[in-house]
Amino acid sequence: MRLPPDSLAFQMLAAAAAVRGVNEGSALPQAIEAACAQYRLERTRDASARGALQDLAYRTMRQFGTVRALVTRMVSRPPGALVDSLLAVALTLLIEGDKEQGQDGAQGGGQGGYAAFTVVDQAVNAAASDPKSAHARGMVNAVLRRFLREREALLAEVRRDEEARWNLPAWWLRLLREAYPDRWQALAGSASERPPMTLRVNTARVALDDYLARLAAAGIAAERVGPQAVRLARALPVAQVPGFDSGEVSVQDAGAQLAAPLLEIADGQRVLDACAAPGGKTGHLLELADVELTAVESDAARAQRIDENLARLHQRAQVVIGDASRPQAWWDGKPYDRILADVPCSASGIVRRHPDIRWLRRESDLGKLVNEQRRIVSQLWPLLKPGGILVYVTCSIFPTEGEEQAQWFGAQLPDAIRLQAPGQLLPGSIPNGVADGGTGSHDGLPSDHDGFFYARFQKRL
Ligand SMILES: C[S@@+](CC[C@H](N)C(=O)[O-])C[C@H]1O[C@@H](n2cnc3c(N)ncnc32)[C@H](O)[C@@H]1O
Repeated sequence: MRLPPDSLAFQMLAAAAAVRGVNEGSALPQAIEAACAQYRLERTRDASARGALQDLAYRTMRQFGTVRALVTRMVSRPPGALVDSLLAVALTLLIEGDKEQGQDGAQGGGQGGYAAFTVVDQAVNAAASDPKSAHARGMVNAVLRRFLREREALLAEVRRDEEARWNLPAWWLRLLREAYPDRWQALAGSASERPPMTLRVNTARVALDDYLARLAAAGIAAERVGPQAVRLARALPVAQVPGFDSGEVSVQDAGAQLAAPLLEIADGQRVLDACAAPGGKTGHLLELADVELTAVESDAARAQRIDENLARLHQRAQVVIGDASRPQAWWDGKPYDRILADVPCSASGIVRRHPDIRWLRRESDLGKLVNEQRRIVSQLWPLLKPGGILVYVTCSIFPTEGEEQAQWFGAQLPDAIRLQAPGQLLPGSIPNGVADGGTGSHDGLPSDHDGFFYARFQKRL
């Protein structure tokens, strides 16, 4: 039986397929694409069903520690991968329904809130509609109803385990506790929050206040959160964001918007953006000055997104598919005035936006990333002119990728002077208060942003 795409049952089933994909090792965006292909959801015709699937899958990833523990607790015989994931999606809705609707869960409402009986009914329909899960529809019904009857006791029981309580792997929590003994709980909690949608306004084309007025006239609530950053009260599809198609604004987190200004670029300079895709910071650099910019990216598919982004902004750069740690393969031999090294990292600072990352990463990835970051920066440093500036960025909150790396670079890079930089930015509105290597704090920090680490080095003249 094919369910209608606008039914919750269909959307839960497709979201379950995406969640199963992550369980099997895919990144969530790819898992969602695969689920859309499997359920024949077209980009334009089925935009609303695709949006609903995506929303359900992202929400489930944020609650995955809790819902996985609940399934293990309530189901004695493993139900199979699809049913397992369907239960995870349905339990997420029931848990979030509690938050949004109060105790009885019987009223719809809130953001994406569904009445509890609707969730159960639709989950059973979803199971019944697919031959791979139809056998389990009675079990789905029984498990969800039991959860509704016993939810306080069940949640209290499974949340004794910290992975289920915080929705983060145990090794991740250990690293947070070690690095931030007095703030780790706030950090762990923020990983399950919904991130804000933040825009970067190209203030060379439209003044920030004028853009805020334009949003207000369109009935879009927003506030300024940085020199060029505007946070929307509610996320919107980009097609509905005024000025997006014409390149006046881009979607970019307020913390990410610090990178380009920190390079202090001027017209005519040669600038290298070494790990550039999808080109968020490339576009920002090109908006700030008329520079000769080379954007290097090792992943060819992702490099294409730099071209797409720059085309929307009416900007140009030389996009090179190459490995930043092997400049001999792509460098033309002319030194750069500025280098941005936005290196690959654990992405522990952006888990609000990418809730699958925590379930896909392994602790052993960290050492490999640290080595790769060192290799990239060490190989880029000789490409910098004397007097030039290199900005090192990660979207991580683990000190091994942040302050510890900055100290290593300061000691290892010949002729490097460490300049003032924001250091560690913690996500959300958690105060930073983290050692920044004695470089002092940086004024003008935005008020709500993802987690980043910034360090700057100048080559002695
Ligand atoms: C943090 S993301 C960059 C985000 C980008 N700067 C922006 O603002 O939109 C890191 C990028 O580096 C790329 N990458 C990873 N290893 C690389 C390498 N050795 N050389 C060049 N690019 C690399 C990844 O594919 C990824 O696109």
